[in-house]
Amino acid sequence: MCGIIGVTGRPDAAELLLEGLERLEYRGYDSAGLVLSVPGSLWRARAAEGTTSVGALRVLAAEAPGASTGLGHTRWATHGHPAVENAHPLFDCTQRVGVVHNGIIENHAEIQGRLVASGHTMASATDTEVLAHLVEERMAGGMGLAESVRVALGEVRGSFSIAVVSSDEPELLVAARRNTPLILGLADGAAFLASDIPALLGQTDRLFVLADDQLAELRPGSIAVSTLDGLPVEPPALSVHWDLAAAQKGGYEDFMSKEIREQPRAVADTLLDRCRPDGSLALDEAKLTDEDLRSITRIHIVACGSSYHAALLARYAIEHWAELAADVDVASEFRYREPVLDPKALALGVSQSGESLDTLLALREARARGARVLGVTNVVDSSIAREADGVLYTRAGPEICVAATKTLLAQIVALDLLALKLAQLRATRSPREISATLDALHRLPAAIEEVVSRAKEVDDVAKALGGARDFFFLGRNVGYPVALEGALKLKELSYLHAEGYPAGELKHGPIALLEPGAVVVGVATRNPLWEKFRSNIAEVKSRGATVVLVANDGDERAAQLADHVLWVPEAEHLLSPVLDIVPLQLFAYRLARLHGLDVDRPRNLAKTVTVE
Ligand code: AGP
Repeated sequence: MCGIIGVTGRPDAAELLLEGLERLEYRGYDSAGLVLSVPGSLWRARAAEGTTSVGALRVLAAEAPGASTGLGHTRWATHGHPAVENAHPLFDCTQRVGVVHNGIIENHAEIQGRLVASGHTMASATDTEVLAHLVEERMAGGMGLAESVRVALGEVRGSFSIAVVSSDEPELLVAARRNTPLILGLADGAAFLASDIPALLGQTDRLFVLADDQLAELRPGSIAVSTLDGLPVEPPALSVHWDLAAAQKGGYEDFMSKEIREQPRAVADTLLDRCRPDGSLALDEAKLTDEDLRSITRIHIVACGSSYHAALLARYAIEHWAELAADVDVASEFRYREPVLDPKALALGVSQSGESLDTLLALREARARGARVLGVTNVVDSSIAREADGVLYTRAGPEICVAATKTLLAQIVALDLLALKLAQLRATRSPREISATLDALHRLPAAIEEVVSRAKEVDDVAKALGGARDFFFLGRNVGYPVALEGALKLKELSYLHAEGYPAGELKHGPIALLEPGAVVVGVATRNPLWEKFRSNIAEVKSRGATVVLVANDGDERAAQLADHVLWVPEAEHLLSPVLDIVPLQLFAYRLARLHGLDVDRPRNLAKTVTVE
């Protein structure tokens, strides 16, 4: 997820762009840049200083020439590590076309191959740069900027919101979008574009929505919108009554609400661009060859917190689909248990930040003991990404809330892809089975959307249990890591006592704690152990506990057993955690809010734990 802003017709363009980027930093902050259109050329400045990139850009922009048209970009890297050469705006060979982009160009590799073969020189490792060269090609053939962008996008697959400027038409900005947001603004003598509302607050209140597969031509004081096929359309007006803080949260009260609702996109983006036309899975950035992966005899997964729960789920997927032995350790324990590893072992570090010191040090220990190392992280060029032999990136965008939500779901599907890749290489699942599972993965974003739409039902259950003090989360098979995650969310957000247990363990001690007033939350969606789980729940009910079940739509048996049900659509059982976790996120969120707590910044916690 990146932040884009553009303006034409304002003599203070540079300052306006910088202010807009400062307001969009929550969308990505590993690098930033701006381009100004000056007579006969484009002036560009870029900085890659992590969270201070926009500040560093402001210093560079002090040298900027006066200009009334330009584009700005703040980046969350997905292709190409955070560095100045990969920061947007990106130029074509002639340096006369500048592009900023938010999204993923799925077929960038094949486009780049054709461009290089026809003499183009790439200056970055990004997917975005191909857009600048495609526009260059068309303009060299005599097309204007707008038509060049329109035709160029006809070659592109993936998600994009882009804006393009050219020194050939210095007052024109051309924007287009598919699947990622872009809004337009109009004022007397000026026009604006931005990824999100915060960037334009205070500049104009005449805002419009650019819809998917539409293109906009912005000139000082005018906006012309058309479909990518060229049919003129009237963009709908956008009415906004937010202050800046609310706007940066997309109108939500807090980042956690926003990030829970970004989960469908986070999962869809993580799954994008992973399957070649021949059906083979492409985890290219993992830099582990098919032979490397085939030679693995055991996988050791290390992680902390919510990432540890993703790791536990990955074990089920790897052992079921790839029939490959997998161990899972809390990273801080792995280091000191003298693990026995060898060169045929793969150590898999799961960490959304890529900076958790426990996980980083566990991977160093694994490497010291002879294993190869693969990282699964959400932050390009993070410490784990840099030190691992290969990396599999989630593409959830920045996660501001301390509690992990969208990054966790993205981790789960990324690890599912790895498990399927291993199954493909070890031929433990047929191409038909793998293709069917990939299809099921691609159906998850819509199903997550459906679960999130039921938030009110979850709120009602949370309100009914607002006075409870003791919560036990139970699950079996893949429901067990889901139970652990539900308990962790409740603990870290509401500070209430919550424990996650494998349901079969209850009778070995914890059931002594159950009494009226205790709440048991069971993950009761259909999995191979559902019948056994029902008897666990019956034991719980007979001791007077209140029972809340996460259950599949239409499961009347669950409805009979439970005092409250959090309904979710059915999914293949190994994929069901991606849906079952969502009501537990909402449950913890609502209880925390009922207790008047700050869900984005829970006490004693940090988003990234860089101490042992
Ligand atoms: C999850 O909600 C917590 N914030 C925490 O447990 C987190 O998952 C853990 O610190 C691991 O972080 P990482 O994924 O960045 O390594």
